[in-house]
Amino acid sequence: MAERKNLEFDRPGGYAMPTGATAVQRRAAKELVTADIRLFGDQVPVHEPAPDAAATPFLSAAEPDTRLYLGDCRDVLASLPDKGSVDLVFADPPFNWEVPYEGWKDGMPRDAYERFTFDWLDGCIEALAPHGSLWVNIPDDTAAEIVMHLKRRGLTMVNWCVWHFRFGQNRDSSFIMSKVHALYFAKDPNNRRWNPKAILELSDRAAIYGDKRTMAKEEDKGMRVPMDVWYGPYWGRIQGNNAERRNQHHNQLPEVYLERVVLACSNEGDLVLDPFCGSGTTATVARAWKRRSVTVEFSEANARSAWHRITEIGMRRKGRSSGGSTAIAPKRRSLEIDPGLLEFPR
Ligand SMILES: C[S@@+](CC[C@H](N)C(=O)[O-])C[C@H]1O[C@@H](n2cnc3c(N)ncnc32)[C@H](O)[C@@H]1O
Repeated sequence: MAERKNLEFDRPGGYAMPTGATAVQRRAAKELVTADIRLFGDQVPVHEPAPDAAATPFLSAAEPDTRLYLGDCRDVLASLPDKGSVDLVFADPPFNWEVPYEGWKDGMPRDAYERFTFDWLDGCIEALAPHGSLWVNIPDDTAAEIVMHLKRRGLTMVNWCVWHFRFGQNRDSSFIMSKVHALYFAKDPNNRRWNPKAILELSDRAAIYGDKRTMAKEEDKGMRVPMDVWYGPYWGRIQGNNAERRNQHHNQLPEVYLERVVLACSNEGDLVLDPFCGSGTTATVARAWKRRSVTVEFSEANARSAWHRITEIGMRRKGRSSGGSTAIAPKRRSLEIDPGLLEFPR
């Protein structure tokens, strides 16, 4: 029996809906730009950027062009020479959780934190090319505000992904936190960088159910674009003696996360921007995959350590974000399939 395919961006996979949530959302997007949406941070004045903060990169390397600017990203973004030509933005900001970042106070009053968030988001939107994509890594407490701000700025949500990890400590006051949101927006959802073939993984139909139909496809037999909840080997939080770990950094993201974003949403030679460098995960992955990159870091010590990783150490787990299976149930029916594919790549 032929499968009824759902290949359109407008139709979310997995639901038989007459129109599709994304189409409904895109229609609404036009109205949201002119809607009177007020958020708490709106009552705080907009940040006045320092002039020429991006006059000279703090550190730079060639082939591909890789630059690290030192300072507050709101200032650097305001004078960035690449305004309007960035293909992909990935931002993992401080969460206002009182993390002891070097130099940066991660405990602002709520309205000031929202203002800060809107200001750097606006700088990133200005930096983006018309076909550009913007990703934000953000926990529950600010995800909704970021989504509303990006919608009122006219961007369209392509996916609300979730990065799922299982390292949380037990607590009896509420459910254990095991996710961060990976918000994927585009300036123009119909004209964006999107490379599904670069990120394919083995489907559960192939890995668990032995569904022959998936192996009868003309191409990409047994493979699928990953789901919007991300987990699996190498997708845990970077803790303890993890090979990727950079000791002096807080909240380092796994390389596979950035690899999936960079491969899906940029091409070789494209320009990737990360306004919160941290340990340099985005620039490290971008450089390993021959993308140009610009990043910004407030702390000089962090910047120097990140630069060593970006230019000297490089990626530890290149190519591990795709190809294998993330099945969470044992195989039920055998299928003639390359056994190597059933393993996640190690
Ligand atoms: C959550 S961490 C980013 C982690 C990064 N994604 C990684 O994988 O290592 C946030 C980083 O942003 C830096 N930072 C905080 N406020 C900043 C600002 N206004 N401009 C630039 N960098 C800032 C902090 O020093 C910290 O290194």
